[in-house]
Amino acid sequence: MNSEKIIKDIEQICQEGGKFIRENFNKITDSDIIVKEKNSLVSYVDQEAEIMITSKLSTLLPEAGFLTEEGTVKNSDKSFRWIVDPLDGTTNFIAGIPHFSISIALEENSDILLGAVYNVMTDDFYHAIKGKGAFVNGNAIKVSETERLDNAIIATGFPYDKSRISESLQKILLHYVTKSRALRRLGSAALDLCFTAQGTFDLYYETTLNPWDIAAGILIVEEAGGKVNDFNGNRDYLSNGEVIAAGMGMNNEVKWIIDNWLQK
Ligand code: 2AM
Ligand code: CA
Repeated sequence: MNSEKIIKDIEQICQEGGKFIRENFNKITDSDIIVKEKNSLVSYVDQEAEIMITSKLSTLLPEAGFLTEEGTVKNSDKSFRWIVDPLDGTTNFIAGIPHFSISIALEENSDILLGAVYNVMTDDFYHAIKGKGAFVNGNAIKVSETERLDNAIIATGFPYDKSRISESLQKILLHYVTKSRALRRLGSAALDLCFTAQGTFDLYYETTLNPWDIAAGILIVEEAGGKVNDFNGNRDYLSNGEVIAAGMGMNNEVKWIIDNWLQK
């Protein structure tokens, strides 16, 4: 498999999918919005973008299966599969907030081989190939070296289902609201991970995520020199949806989150 060539093709696919998403930005009406589950929204744009993206990916590697957010293709438990979110940050997209992305990862035997995230409105293309570093628009990126929490920018997101904002999650939030330089909640987990990979965010944490939100971004952070854990300090993030991603200077904070996390 020629990973470099596949990444070039994925970049092209993201640009085409991204063009369709941009053309529909600010055109969504109330009747276009479908509520999937509590506060989780979707529109024809997510679904049509997914069809465009997955049909092109399947010509690229016909033997690979799919795990996608919208399920427009049959989701597969094959050990070799694409993990695709055609529009990460759907709430932003629908509300007219210009911050959302396309996320594409290729998984083999539970290992992410390559990941790509496309920032639709800025046209920035992030990618990583396992063992080969992380890049934005072809330029190498690195996580931050910030050590002091009072100098750190922390990013997070909150569960759509508010009953899952547990006391320990509130405690963690209050810790960062009161002790970091700034806390941000931008609304696309895939881009939060890329911003962590390029050192814009010093630490990013979130729970209740899905594999398609994070599979590509996690490899991008790791290949940029960062560390990614779930909230128990393990690497089961794709199954439990919990992510802490950070530069090495934030090791104490990663530990603090793990120590203060009591899942409810
Ligand atoms: P989405 O826009 O594709 O739904 C927002 O915090 C980020 O988390 C987005 O990337 C959003 O993806 C994702 N997300 C997925 N499932 C979520 C959930 N149950 N609660 C909150 N955010 C979720
Ligand atoms: Ca998503």
